[in-house]
Amino acid sequence: MSMNFEEIKASISTEAAQVSDAQQLEAFRIKYLGKKGVIQDIYASLAQAPNEEKRTIGKAANEIKQLATRVMEELKTRVGSAGGGKARRSIDPTIPGVAPRVGYKHLLTQTIEEISDIFEKLGFVIEDGPEVETEFNNFTALNIPENHPSRDGFDTFYTTARNPEDQSSHLLLRSHTSPGQIRIMQNNKPPLAVIIPGRVYRPDAVDASHSFMFHQIEGLLVDKDVKFSDLKGLLNAFCKRLFGNDIQMRFRPHYFPFTEPSAEVDISWRGGKRDWLEIMGCGMVHPKVFEYAGYPKGKYTGLAFGLGVERMTMLKYGIKDIRLFYENDQRFLEQF
Ligand code: DAH
Repeated sequence: MSMNFEEIKASISTEAAQVSDAQQLEAFRIKYLGKKGVIQDIYASLAQAPNEEKRTIGKAANEIKQLATRVMEELKTRVGSAGGGKARRSIDPTIPGVAPRVGYKHLLTQTIEEISDIFEKLGFVIEDGPEVETEFNNFTALNIPENHPSRDGFDTFYTTARNPEDQSSHLLLRSHTSPGQIRIMQNNKPPLAVIIPGRVYRPDAVDASHSFMFHQIEGLLVDKDVKFSDLKGLLNAFCKRLFGNDIQMRFRPHYFPFTEPSAEVDISWRGGKRDWLEIMGCGMVHPKVFEYAGYPKGKYTGLAFGLGVERMTMLKYGIKDIRLFYENDQRFLEQF
């Protein structure tokens, strides 16, 4: 019997490459490793072989058997074995695993948490307010007059839904987090110290520094005898913790309808170019706001502040375009 062992080896490899399911795998096994298979034939041929060839044939038969067995094992992992009815993949525990990618928090969430954390350590409680608000909470109760431009449809998103408690006004997407102040005061008695982080909406055209949706953090502290110096001390402590001890701060007089007096806070990096950057608005709660919230006249004083999360984050990390926060580009997000 003449057999070309090299040809058999080659056909094992080519045929193995074509095996794609358990049935073909079984056919492959029968053909090479079965009782009447090619390898058995080679062993059987040993009996008739001349003595001087027995060694060579035996060696070749062993090699081919090893090859076919190894290929079978590989195929079993690839297509699953036919045994046990259902095809089953065997698991090789020695193969290194694919580690799942661990998620992480969005940079804005990180900043909100960092700021919230600072205020929590200063004794503030984190509260929440709804994004769909009444005109009363968003404007009237904050002493924002009827004819104020921020009430205009160009500056506020109004919904078609009417306020169930006041059919003459429509619900709107809150244009700032300040209406949260009203809700807190309507439901809690002083002393209170809260911060209210959340989304706000304004129909602004989107560009590098504007977005129709962004995040603010509102702060409110009400008690007896709260003074402007408390506001300064508090915001000073906060800014140093967030931006580092190296900054300088100034309070610049400003106007907000819901605080009196009002100020804007600017910071600058000592040793830098001395540019002042506006970071937040603040002031002492206007007596009218207490009145709308239902507090007795003259009993309490309070401080309030509001800051833009995107703005703070852009300043802190040197980000030049607000749109980067919302585009979900991994190359940007992964950096933080
Ligand atoms: N609501 C103001 C805005 O969106 C920010 C603000 C300023 C909030 C002063 C305050 C404050 O509580 O006291 O522009």
